[in-house]
Amino acid sequence: MDMSKLRMHADFIAPSILSADFARLGAEVDAVIAAGADLIHFDVMDNHYVPNLTIGPPVCAALQQHGVSVPIDVHLMVDPVDRLIDDFARAGARYITFHPEASRHIDRNLTQIREAGCLAGLVFNPATPLAAVRHVLDKLDMILIMSVNPGFGGQSFIPGALTKLREARTLIDTSGYPIRLEIDGGVKLDNIGAIAAAGADTFVAGSAIFGSADYTATITRMRQAIAAARQA
Ligand code: DX5
Ligand code: ZN
Repeated sequence: MDMSKLRMHADFIAPSILSADFARLGAEVDAVIAAGADLIHFDVMDNHYVPNLTIGPPVCAALQQHGVSVPIDVHLMVDPVDRLIDDFARAGARYITFHPEASRHIDRNLTQIREAGCLAGLVFNPATPLAAVRHVLDKLDMILIMSVNPGFGGQSFIPGALTKLREARTLIDTSGYPIRLEIDGGVKLDNIGAIAAAGADTFVAGSAIFGSADYTATITRMRQAIAAARQA
């Protein structure tokens, strides 16, 4: 049997609320969860690390209080990350991921996330090598590969991300740690199969889901495309 096809846990679909209707955020989150979402991907932008500004801990806490029945996956695109890690842990985040460029002490921040009771991850921009991963594999619950430059929804998938996914998949499988491998940016129905084949097990999709007329149909078709790629 091809060991690379063995996954420690199921594939996760993670709708990014960046493309949701923010005026109806609670209802939008309810709708994607009813449609089969496994995680809610929560993009935090600070107009400093990335040229855009989004939502912070009070919105995460409001969703938590509203009653979100799946884990919240907080993607920090902020510099520095130190204070916001604890703020998001208190606000109900389950996963907290950050970019190595935005941290002076990567190992310390990963430990901080776990000590706050959350799962920790590092995010790699299209031009950022995976080098930082090798020395902290025991402190990671997630590796997130960016397939666009962070800052905006609705951009096109950068194909080089597939090569980096394969590299990350090999690192994870060799390490033996149960680290999820997430992809973020330009994920659509027509490329999600190739992304799964390259090793991803967690699929962020913003515009592809929230821009569709039927969230259930879109998520179901994504799962079918992933399953077809796994069987190929
Ligand atoms: C981009 C964000 C993504 C974004 C993806 O900086 O990190 O999560 O919402 O949006 P789509 O799926 O539309 O590329
Ligand atoms: Zn994101």
